[in-house]
Amino acid sequence: MKQKLYLYTRFERLWHWTQAFLIIFLLLTGFEIHGSLEIFGYEKAYLWHVYAGMALVILTAFAIFWHLTTGAWRHYWPVKEKIPQICYYYLVGIFRGEPHPFEKRPDQKLNPLQRLAYLFLKLVLFPLQFVTAFLLLSYQWWPALGISASFRKVAYYHTAGAFAFLFFLIIHVYLATTGKPWYSHLRGMILGWEEVELR
Ligand code: HEM
Repeated sequence: MKQKLYLYTRFERLWHWTQAFLIIFLLLTGFEIHGSLEIFGYEKAYLWHVYAGMALVILTAFAIFWHLTTGAWRHYWPVKEKIPQICYYYLVGIFRGEPHPFEKRPDQKLNPLQRLAYLFLKLVLFPLQFVTAFLLLSYQWWPALGISASFRKVAYYHTAGAFAFLFFLIIHVYLATTGKPWYSHLRGMILGWEEVELR
């Protein structure tokens, strides 16, 4: 039997899609700065990259505030249960039509593997990208700030972070289409309501 659950509030949906748009735009403009793409022209790509980056920093500040005040940060607290079963499901079970080992509920929206992946994104990848971006932007003030690093090395870490975001995005989009029917997770993140199989 299926049940309709309200999983994503209006703020979460707005945050999710704005973040998705900004990250894709940052990847496009960033790889144009890097010299791998030619879309907007270098000057525009640079300026828009910095504006989009600042928008992402502001959005992230709002999201942190929202998660702390609503208690929604608990969804990212790591748990050990069922991780091997979930890995098995994504590697084998999904191709045999087996049911997902994790039951989604409003009080546990993320499966243990998602918790770990998103926690890594929030605690490692976002800070890496923001700190390296701040360093790249403040290059001329490094002597005054007492920073002695190599600009090339900082740019290298920022690019490595961008590849990690790209890798995450590809897997994320694939997993977003593995619901039953394939668009059920996507519809949930657009409308807030998702049809979930009851056990
Ligand atoms: C998901 C987030 C982000 C991604 C995927 C991303 C991606 C990239 C990439 C691929 C480059 C080219 C690096 C190179 O070739 O040296 C770049 C450069 C740059 N990014 Fe980002 N970026 C992100 C966030 C930010 C943020 C938040 C800011 C600041 C507000 C920012 C500011 C810059 C600047 C100033 C450069 C130029 C560095 C230079 O002068 O060579 N980026 N970014």
